[in-house]
Amino acid sequence: MLSRRTKELFFQVAGPAMRMNGLIYKNLRAPRQGTVRVHLGPGQRNYLPGWINVDANMFTAKCDVWTDLRHALPFHDGSVDAFYSHHVIEHLPSMEAHFADVIRCLKPGGYYRTGGPNGDAAIRKFSQNDTAWFGSFPDDRRSIGGRFENFIFCRREHVTILTASFLEELLQQAGFVDIKVCMPSRDTHVPTMFADCLKLEAESDFENPHTLIVEARKPAVTPN
Ligand SMILES: C[S@@+](CC[C@H](N)C(=O)[O-])C[C@H]1O[C@@H](n2cnc3c(N)ncnc32)[C@H](O)[C@@H]1O
Repeated sequence: MLSRRTKELFFQVAGPAMRMNGLIYKNLRAPRQGTVRVHLGPGQRNYLPGWINVDANMFTAKCDVWTDLRHALPFHDGSVDAFYSHHVIEHLPSMEAHFADVIRCLKPGGYYRTGGPNGDAAIRKFSQNDTAWFGSFPDDRRSIGGRFENFIFCRREHVTILTASFLEELLQQAGFVDIKVCMPSRDTHVPTMFADCLKLEAESDFENPHTLIVEARKPAVTPN
């Protein structure tokens, strides 16, 4: 895993080129019609064929669009049927800004499936002193506190804690409706859109999933 400093340096150096690349993509290539599904942050192994895969990592990630998700998404207003992100939003400096931009890009009635480290389950497991639930990534920790810190902050890679109520609050604030936690997490309320995504989501604990997954919909008609 690259150090936080190296990643910050990468974003500083490559940031302007990524923004420019996003703008060029939006103006020259971003689809305006047809079914459009966008996968944010696929990383090295989770490229989804048939989706537009977007990532900042030009070295190891496999993607179709190289851009920085901390800035406006390179898609036209109301042009995307579905967005998917898995273990990405906890890296972004503003989930509020991200959700507002996702809803801008979605077609009326479009969906977002998103999720990351499950803060609710982690707090339960911390209270139960269940060190085995946490594992020891990225740092080798034996204590429950050390493992909890690993899980929540991941060597300061994560800038927030994802809990169901917090995600619901922010998604609602952005204008989403039908906000549902997926339980078990490898399930979907919208199989026509997200069936492809489920095979990417490894989960070993279905009672206390390590990943909190939420689905939400942009209203079909935007209220005045
Ligand atoms: C923890 S990995 C998750 C990868 C994959 N989705 C998974 O579940 O295994 C986070 C991914 O988000 C990407 N990412 C993080 N911050 C980003 C940003 N600001 N812009 C674009 N991609 C970003 C990283 O490059 C990486 O591929």
